[in-house]
Amino acid sequence: MRILVTGGTGYIGSHTVLSLLETGHEVVVLDNLVNSSEESLRRVGELAGKTAAFHKVDLVDEAAVEAVFDQHSIDAVIHFAGLKAVGESVQEPLNYYYNNIVGTLNLLRAMDKHGVRSIVFSSSATVYGEHNPIPYIEKMEIGANNPYGRTKEQIEDILTDLGAADERWHIALLRYFNPVGAHPSGRIGEDPQGIPNNLVPYIAQVAVGRREKLMVFGGDYDTPDGTCLRDYIHVVDLAGGHVAALGYVAERPACTAGTLAPGKARPYWRCSTPSNRPWATRCRTRSRAAGRETCPRSGPTPPPPWPT
Ligand SMILES: NC(=O)c1ccc[n+]([C@@H]2O[C@H](COP(=O)([O-])OP(=O)(O)OC[C@H]3O[C@@H](n4cnc5c(N)ncnc54)[C@H](O)[C@@H]3O)[C@@H](O)[C@H]2O)c1
Repeated sequence: MRILVTGGTGYIGSHTVLSLLETGHEVVVLDNLVNSSEESLRRVGELAGKTAAFHKVDLVDEAAVEAVFDQHSIDAVIHFAGLKAVGESVQEPLNYYYNNIVGTLNLLRAMDKHGVRSIVFSSSATVYGEHNPIPYIEKMEIGANNPYGRTKEQIEDILTDLGAADERWHIALLRYFNPVGAHPSGRIGEDPQGIPNNLVPYIAQVAVGRREKLMVFGGDYDTPDGTCLRDYIHVVDLAGGHVAALGYVAERPACTAGTLAPGKARPYWRCSTPSNRPWATRCRTRSRAAGRETCPRSGPTPPPPWPT
């Protein structure tokens, strides 16, 4: 199949493009490079031994999106493109709603016009909000509590309505928590523009000396070591999940929501201090309640009392 991957030069997108190429698909990538670089695709091409077509296009530019569909005969779409920083979305809600919602509407309208009605949408577990008890399951009522999450929720609503209105649409909504890691080659990984919004790029920047130390926010949670618990998923597994979802939607009309997660929570501290790395000694924890540094720690974390 020929798959259009929006946001395909980004972190999860580039790993998914590689996975698609390795499983015999042809790939067209659309990205405006606001948080990524074309270099990731060059490296994906090296790893796969074949290349993906690339279009530097902003999804909010309706005519440019249409032109991509005019140029390629697309069979299905994996839609990653979007702004994703929760804090920034609180500061700049208009920008987030415009980019994520208008961009998605342009994409869906172009797809409909060209008879392309299979889409895997990169949603987020943030749509489960904070009102639901853990563990989250898909039939729970969703309700995000920040503008970024609400853009995901609103796009889910649009896609759900589309699936209900027209049975020619095949849609998967994939919700996930914290993607981490990189391709085993080390050639592609998470390399955000500007200040990172996720833990692992911070750890990597401390490891290579770009940052002096890692701040761990929250040292007084009710957890084995006081740091918060997170459900991490390896980015290569996540990429494989998107490719598998394409096969799933091909066989099922309408709209299906699914959560991609290993279901194992890991404390922040353990994640940020793997065995005896020198940079681990530069970590500090902060009191979540007081918002100030309270607990300087050095040396490796003791053996975990929780399952690994
Ligand atoms: N990384 C996470 O923690 C996480 C968790 C859950 C869901 N997600 C979702 O997964 C998707 C991919 O995330 P990522 O971590 O790879 O982020 P990323 O920033 O690396 O990738 C997103 C890509 O979209 C592009 N983009 C943004 N707006 C665009 C627009 N208007 N037109 C064209 N391209 C545009 C960016 O340049 C970037 O390459 C996002 O939709 C994100 O919300 C991410």
